[in-house]
Amino acid sequence: MAIEMGSPSADELGDVVRVMKEWQDDDVPVQLHPGDVGWYWRFGAERTAQATRTWSRAGEVLAVGLLDGADLLRMAFAPEALRDEELARQVAQDVSGRGVLPEGEVSLEAPMSALIQNVLGEDGWESGEPWALLRRDLGAPVPDPGVDVELVGPEQAHEWAAVLRASFEGSTFTEERWHAMAAGVAYVDARCLGVRDERGEMVAAVIVWSAGEGRTGLIEPMGVHREHRGHGHGRAITVAGARALQELGSSSVVVYTPSSNAGAVATYRSAGLEQVSERRDLRRCARRAP
Ligand SMILES: CC(C)(COP(=O)(O)OP(=O)(O)OC[C@H]1O[C@@H](n2cnc3c(N)ncnc32)[C@H](O)[C@@H]1OP(=O)(O)O)[C@@H](O)C(=O)NCCC(=O)NCCS
Repeated sequence: MAIEMGSPSADELGDVVRVMKEWQDDDVPVQLHPGDVGWYWRFGAERTAQATRTWSRAGEVLAVGLLDGADLLRMAFAPEALRDEELARQVAQDVSGRGVLPEGEVSLEAPMSALIQNVLGEDGWESGEPWALLRRDLGAPVPDPGVDVELVGPEQAHEWAAVLRASFEGSTFTEERWHAMAAGVAYVDARCLGVRDERGEMVAAVIVWSAGEGRTGLIEPMGVHREHRGHGHGRAITVAGARALQELGSSSVVVYTPSSNAGAVATYRSAGLEQVSERRDLRRCARRAP
């Protein structure tokens, strides 16, 4: 049976998220997580649907791609399809030829063990920016974060949005985006948390995304207000996120961050996550004129 690429409607995104959850197993390489789709949902259901592609055989979804920005496709595969040659070749063809990604310099994120890495490598794609994968097993107890942790709901959304803007350079996050995200189907399994300083100002923010009982959970995003760094808030909010995932039944917590983000890597380590591997995006450079 041939592999077919599809673009789900907003109504069909729930099915895509459900399938992706089943792929989040600690024995499978860490890859695009339903929480990544949930975080993208801050732009609304329509835009999330427009950014999503599926590849199926006989109606069964075997791979999902999320266009996370104009020039980056992030991918997840059904565990049994990671080395499926027909699928890898069709994805490679669609990515380059059917307008999934634009002309010029583009990147694709996929597990290092996925066959698409080899196929695109043969086509001249090169390895791009290194990302550190950090992980903590949640089978053992997670210590108390040592601070009061707040579950953020609609009432605190404006404060949480302000912390996120003050954490990430160039962030455009708003309260409206929080509400759009929280209305998404993936958010059902998420927890948005905040930590305040002694004056009551929210200073640290995290969202953790469960993929269900016994499955891998994700941190996305995590940040500390730039004027409140170096006081242990990053470690505390990360530990709080890990505990929330443990309560939700996750088997582990994972996060990807650019290897160059020394502060983030140090903070995750300090919160008990270990760097387990490094992944590189695949990058297709702009074609030079002959
Ligand atoms: C990364 C970040 C969350 C750290 O927050 P923070 O409150 O300053 O971190 P903490 O005070 O809890 O520090 C935790 C540990 O990391 C270390 N650390 C923090 N920032 C560091 C830096 N820039 N370089 C080296 N080490 C750093 C601390 O020394 C501490 O180590 P220790 O536990 O061994 O003593 C914050 O800088 C931030 O929000 N950055 C921008 C957003 C971001 O990159 N988020 C993560 C990626 S999704």
